[in-house]
Amino acid sequence: MRDDDPVRYDADRRSWDVFRYEDVKRILDDDETFSVNPRLTSDFVEPDNPGEGLIFDTMLFQDPPRHDELRGVVDDEFQPRTLRERESHFRDLAADLLDDAVADGGGRMDVVEDLAYPFPVTVIAELLGVPAEDRDRFKRWSDTLVSAASDDEGGEEYAERQQQAQMEMAQYFVEAIGDRRENPRDDLLSEIATTELSDGGTLSREEALGMCILLLVAGNITTTNLIANAVRCFAEADADLFDRLRGDERGLTTALEETLRYRSPVQAMTRIATEDVTMRGETIEEGDRIIVWLGSANRDERRFEDADEFRPDRSPNQHLGFGHGTHYCLGAPLARLEARIALGELLDSAEDIRIADAELRPTRSSFVYGVESLPIR
Ligand code: HEM
Repeated sequence: MRDDDPVRYDADRRSWDVFRYEDVKRILDDDETFSVNPRLTSDFVEPDNPGEGLIFDTMLFQDPPRHDELRGVVDDEFQPRTLRERESHFRDLAADLLDDAVADGGGRMDVVEDLAYPFPVTVIAELLGVPAEDRDRFKRWSDTLVSAASDDEGGEEYAERQQQAQMEMAQYFVEAIGDRRENPRDDLLSEIATTELSDGGTLSREEALGMCILLLVAGNITTTNLIANAVRCFAEADADLFDRLRGDERGLTTALEETLRYRSPVQAMTRIATEDVTMRGETIEEGDRIIVWLGSANRDERRFEDADEFRPDRSPNQHLGFGHGTHYCLGAPLARLEARIALGELLDSAEDIRIADAELRPTRSSFVYGVESLPIR
């Protein structure tokens, strides 16, 4: 694709695909020609589901200057120096999850179910300021929101279950934000509720709610997949990689960057052309949807030597796993920290890590890359 059809129109999806590193970067560098706002798509229809509508008004789907204003509300909380203060607490959370898994599993555990999934959910709940007694409810809503329909469930039942969880969660956050407006604390919910914008006001109720949902949706399943993908990459690499990385923080950090390149948890993102534009001889028209394939850009042999090889010590490594430009992942420092902690704790807890003999089912999403479960022994 990158060689023969680097920019192509997919008639079924009614969108363009862009595959090469250079082209992907060019698009992400140019917010004026390539917008994130879905409402600019020529065939846009407002979604029936109010939850989805809320997300469209968040930073992820807004262009500057509104984008910058919204991102500014929570930006400080995601800076590495702010997160560093909480590192040892996060480490305790991961260690507790591993202890529970070892106690329950008798030598076997599932990386996704026991660690990679619950860890980021718990961390974001803590950062938001969801009290411990509400964690179970909170986790149940997240479970439902990211789950696919179960085998014995019809489409309508599934949609109902999803909407019910969305409604309960929305109600919970609206109340919590109201509470923080009255009694601010040292947590993200308070920032979201009280930060003053350039017009002197604060985020509206809907915008505040959208922000909470975005932080949950954008941060959980992605980090889950980074952690699980890293275990897979490390297990498939040479036999002593786990040993070499144990206790080597810098080596682990480099190997995680290579995981983000080689098995990018977010494979693609969407942009909308705001004017007619020509790329590689193809004319993309104003209002057309463009799928920007990060996963492909990260394997572009024009940019990376031996691009299809997992090299844990690759450096420099300017992958696009967290995107690029204005919308570069807000949670990148958090995701990196969580992955470093999770993998560090896992390596410390087990002498030898081997993926158990089991069929690995891919995550049920075409944009997120990972596996549904990952048993190890
Ligand atoms: C944006 C990937 C973890 C919050 C993005 C984008 C990518 C990405 C590719 C760019 C989207 C675009 O340009 O359209 C990832 C990956 C993660 C991860 C691979 C884990 C390995 C997180 C976490 C959080 C988070 C932990 C927060 C809790 C966000 C937000 C945006 C974003 C709020 C929108 C930023 C903006 O529009 O300015 N992420 N993400 N992400 N991510 Fe992440």
